[in-house]
Amino acid sequence: MYTFARFEQAIREALLATNLISAADIDLGAPKAAGVQADLALPCFRAAKSRGSTPAQVAQELVAALQFAPDSLVASATISGPYVNFNLNPQTFAKAVLADIQAGGATYGSSTKGNNRKVIVEYSSPNIAKRMHVGHIRSTIIGQAIANLYQRLGYEVIRDNHLGDYGKQFGVNIAATLRFGKPEGEGEAVLAAIEEQYKRYNLLMKGAVAEDTEYDPDSDAGLDDEARAWSLKLEQGDPQAVEIWQWMVDLTKTANQPNYDRLGVHFDLQHGESFYKDMLAEIISDAGESELAERDGNAIIVKDLPDHRGKKLPTFLIQRSDGGTLYMTRDIATIKYREQTYNPDAMIYIVGQPQELHFRQTFAISKALGYTDAELIHISFGTVFDAKGQPLSTRKGNMIYLETLLDEARNRAKALIEQKMAEGKTQLTAELIDQVAEQVGVGAVMYNDLYQDTKRNITVDWDRMLAFEGNSSPYLQYMHARCCSILRDFGKLPASYDGSLLSHSAETGLLKELARLPQIIEEAAARYAPFVVADWLYATARAFSAFYDACSVLKAETPELRVARGHVVAATAQALRNGLALLSIAAPERM
Ligand code: ARG
Repeated sequence: MYTFARFEQAIREALLATNLISAADIDLGAPKAAGVQADLALPCFRAAKSRGSTPAQVAQELVAALQFAPDSLVASATISGPYVNFNLNPQTFAKAVLADIQAGGATYGSSTKGNNRKVIVEYSSPNIAKRMHVGHIRSTIIGQAIANLYQRLGYEVIRDNHLGDYGKQFGVNIAATLRFGKPEGEGEAVLAAIEEQYKRYNLLMKGAVAEDTEYDPDSDAGLDDEARAWSLKLEQGDPQAVEIWQWMVDLTKTANQPNYDRLGVHFDLQHGESFYKDMLAEIISDAGESELAERDGNAIIVKDLPDHRGKKLPTFLIQRSDGGTLYMTRDIATIKYREQTYNPDAMIYIVGQPQELHFRQTFAISKALGYTDAELIHISFGTVFDAKGQPLSTRKGNMIYLETLLDEARNRAKALIEQKMAEGKTQLTAELIDQVAEQVGVGAVMYNDLYQDTKRNITVDWDRMLAFEGNSSPYLQYMHARCCSILRDFGKLPASYDGSLLSHSAETGLLKELARLPQIIEEAAARYAPFVVADWLYATARAFSAFYDACSVLKAETPELRVARGHVVAATAQALRNGLALLSIAAPERM
């Protein structure tokens, strides 16, 4: 059990030992009123009701009866109207927090709460034969952080990249490839060339194409008979069709892999939509035979299905009138497959807000068909705006793609580092400059997706993203690097130290932040909210800065204090590293 939890437990035990309050009436929490200097507070309203007394009276009785040993984590209990306030004992607390961090190291903050529970986290899920656009980038970064959080809580986490590798658009892609040839090159460039051929083919056949920013692999827009024929051949397993399709799948995966590597992203599964194709017939017959759906010719229609809140969902299709399946049908099959294969407790989808209705429908029909008892969760996220405040869109031509984004971030970070070098503010070898530029640049991009509630829109504003001050990734990385630099100056930090020397308010303030990490991880996971970790990182970095301003470390008043403070710095470095790792952001030791 970590220190804060032990502090709370010590209070609980002492309260019960008074025999004045029952367990059910103990509801400890952060003090509600602003400016109250307490670490935990007990509202006495419930206990007053049980005792037929007033809250203020109960608070007085409790404080009179409460007893804490001198080596307890609890320093004092005081009355504040209807509340009892509890304060930490700075000395025992400092020792305990530092011991937690030293014992935990890179795993400090993690727990076993999720042991024997399994979650599938589905994220990234780009489409084959296309570049990843900002929606996929956000999904990749947010999904990775959510998966990390659950892993830290001891869950078995299965990370799945649900590739968009199925649908009518592949008929066009195949027909276009046969007509114009296989474009050469690699990375985003070759995917852009394939997109271009796709457009060209459509223009050629129809004169115009509707630009789709929203994913709809089943839309008929711009398809002609030739493409339709290829799409059918692909479904029937025609060798030539499959060969070209497979070429596109491999090429896209190869193009995406270096970007995933740069983001530190890996998957356990990369089952694309096509993986489920043999299950579609059974889904269609299950749905078709159920009372949930109606038939209209070949079409299978679901009307008035209530969602999990009992609200009627708009009508949707499980099978099209031409007998074709849909994106939704494949998603339903995916749920059935996952339940049968993994029996997870939850399936978490990180997909943009435009697909919210799609998931409400998919989840409702999958539940109604009895395919899963897992919790089904869609985490949606807002759109991305450019620095001029325009939403990024393919049509407007201001879309940003992942490889380009990461390259630009790295180049800008490199320029900033070189400027710092020129000003004599840092010293790095040529080799380190490139490495740190990559870590700072990529970190800035990732943090921009994570530092606020995912539902909110984000802006690609390089100055803010790469600022070395304020709530940005470079600032956090810089604070970590500063800790590392202080530790380097220490040479070897003696292992034994006296934690009870650490009672300066700036020390206690910092240690309280460090002690919060375990709770922060729990809260962030429960809310699917990586920004909770980001907020904590920022608060911790500022607390470190305040500590460093107020307390000399290398030039501390006594040698004993110097060593104890050295341990505070080491613990801060470790905790910052752990927090950054949760967001998959690198923590360079120099920058
Ligand atoms: N490939 C889809 C797109 O680009 C996202 C897939 C999301 N996941 C899912 N299970 N439908 O929009």
